[in-house]
Amino acid sequence: MSKTKVWIIGAKGRLGSTISDALDRMEYNVLTSDLDVDITDMDSVTAFMDMSHPAVVINCAGYNTHDWAEEDMVKAFRVNAIGARNVASASRKVGAKLIHMSTDDVFDGQGSAPLTEFDVATPDTVFGKSKLAGENFVRELNPKHLIVRSSWVYAREGSCFVNSVIRQAKEGGVIRVAAEQYSSPTSAKMLADFIMKMIDANEYGIYHASCEGCCSRVEAAEEILRLMGQNPTGRIEAVPSESGKNSPRNTFLRNLMMEVTGIYRMPRWQDAMKEYIQELRG
Ligand SMILES: NC(=O)c1ccc[n+]([C@@H]2O[C@H](COP(=O)([O-])OP(=O)(O)OC[C@H]3O[C@@H](n4cnc5c(N)ncnc54)[C@H](OP(=O)(O)O)[C@@H]3O)[C@@H](O)[C@H]2O)c1
Repeated sequence: MSKTKVWIIGAKGRLGSTISDALDRMEYNVLTSDLDVDITDMDSVTAFMDMSHPAVVINCAGYNTHDWAEEDMVKAFRVNAIGARNVASASRKVGAKLIHMSTDDVFDGQGSAPLTEFDVATPDTVFGKSKLAGENFVRELNPKHLIVRSSWVYAREGSCFVNSVIRQAKEGGVIRVAAEQYSSPTSAKMLADFIMKMIDANEYGIYHASCEGCCSRVEAAEEILRLMGQNPTGRIEAVPSESGKNSPRNTFLRNLMMEVTGIYRMPRWQDAMKEYIQELRG
């Protein structure tokens, strides 16, 4: 039986590397790229696609530093929107299914209700607007698409909120976290499990894929301290976020498409965090 050929774009990043490490090479022929195939360059993307003919493309590439995106709008749209356009167009030409990563930041975070795939996204940041533009290109250019939105993703490699709290917890002292931000910390490993399931699934459209449950950054930091065997009392200070007014507040994603289709269920954020910290300690 021939193996399904899967191309992971952005394969050295937090999520891309997690998927690449987890994909079974006995079952899949895995191709990986990063800046060696620059997605902002249509010719490079098309050439690689035509040469390799993947059945499935997983686009984990992105310009993901929110504050930098506010400073450099051109780069944010070049990578997150035009890059997505190029991958969508080239993948359609070879008949490949495209799994495209997106984010809770496509929502402005001003409401208080959980956000589903059927809510209208109205981003208020450059980053969020560039990611929504990428989603729109994907929807227009490759009908065989899955857009996967997640939130507060953490992995062993790379910097992220969870790793920053863990590092500060080890150092001792007060840990400062952004106040009034609510969403779901999501383990890259758990997210990768869902994405791998979708490689062979006959599912298309937008999927929210965050760990279940909502918390503030303060509550997440307190839980991390508890899981590390530390007492959180007096250890966390909530401060205004660095990006101030540009930062979305409540971007709690409800995985409604998973509920509707019954195809998958993400773990609770506390359970995923527990497993992550146990692995780090183990
Ligand atoms: N992290 C989160 O909290 C989070 C939450 C929700 C959704 N997401 C989405 O999930 C996806 C993966 O996130 P992540 O955290 O794994 O991102 P990441 O760690 O920043 O990785 C992104 C990867 O894309 C590569 N890349 C950047 N520009 C590129 C280009 N022009 N051509 C080819 N590759 C390029 C980067 O290479 P270099 O490092 O060499 O630049 C890096 O390897 C992104 O779409 C992101 O928006 C992330």
